[in-house]
Amino acid sequence: MHAIKRTILVTGASSGIGRAIARQLLFDGHCVIGTSRDPLRFSQPHAEFIGMTLDLAQLTSLEAFGKALPKQFPQLDTVIFAAGYGQFGGLEQFSYPQIERLMTVNFTAQACLTRTLLPHLKQKQTANLIYIGSEAALKGSRNGSIYCASKFALRGFVQALRDECGKTGLRVSIINPGMVDTAFFENLNFAPGTQPGQALSADDIANTVRYILQAGAYCGVDEINLSPNNKVIEFKKPPS
Ligand SMILES: NC(=O)c1ccc[n+]([C@@H]2O[C@H](COP(=O)([O-])OP(=O)(O)OC[C@H]3O[C@@H](n4cnc5c(N)ncnc54)[C@H](OP(=O)(O)O)[C@@H]3O)[C@@H](O)[C@H]2O)c1
Repeated sequence: MHAIKRTILVTGASSGIGRAIARQLLFDGHCVIGTSRDPLRFSQPHAEFIGMTLDLAQLTSLEAFGKALPKQFPQLDTVIFAAGYGQFGGLEQFSYPQIERLMTVNFTAQACLTRTLLPHLKQKQTANLIYIGSEAALKGSRNGSIYCASKFALRGFVQALRDECGKTGLRVSIINPGMVDTAFFENLNFAPGTQPGQALSADDIANTVRYILQAGAYCGVDEINLSPNNKVIEFKKPPS
């Protein structure tokens, strides 16, 4: 149990990294508001968990969601942005709407929701914004032009926002994981190796979130990069 009980919004709490973070936070005694496009994906009820529907691709609905949330949950003091997805391939394989959607879900929606929640969070004595970036925010790589762009954008946004919030109690952090064993790879033609050490676990990211939240009140954790010890990418055979 943490010394301070927090009320924490976790986007993407229905799967993978977001789900592991939500579970860890509940275990630590916090109240968690988790979002997904499909609330039926929240299977196990918990007294301190509230599941909400949110589609980050629908920018127009975000402002209303972001304005209503602090009214419904005035104790809200932390947001963890874990929702996102990957789409990879040569740039010519992307349509305009696919480019727009990937940038919206992985970056623009997070900037917009942050913008709406910021006045509320800046009033708190202690508050945290934690974003799940990626190793793709650190270096561009083949077949990742738009995905990397979305994560580079997120990382630049976080660095600037951290400076903007420096005189408040709001601490802004980004975690950049390498490959994590989650459903992220279900629709992709590659995945991390399955041997020990070839992928991070979602719990590795959840433990990092815990570390950031437990840091001393005046200690901002700017950025943490995580990699599997022995990174291995396996390419899937195309269906015959
Ligand atoms: N896995 C990796 O290797 C890895 C590495 C570095 C960074 N990341 C980043 O970590 C984040 C989470 O990925 P993951 O590995 O946990 O993948 P995941 O298991 O597929 O989970 C993705 C989560 O994002 C939510 N989501 C996707 N599209 C959404 C939308 N339009 N609106 C709202 N929610 C949406 C999903 O919720 P619903 O489908 O229920 O709506 C789900 O909860 C992503 O930002 C990803 O880029 C992943």
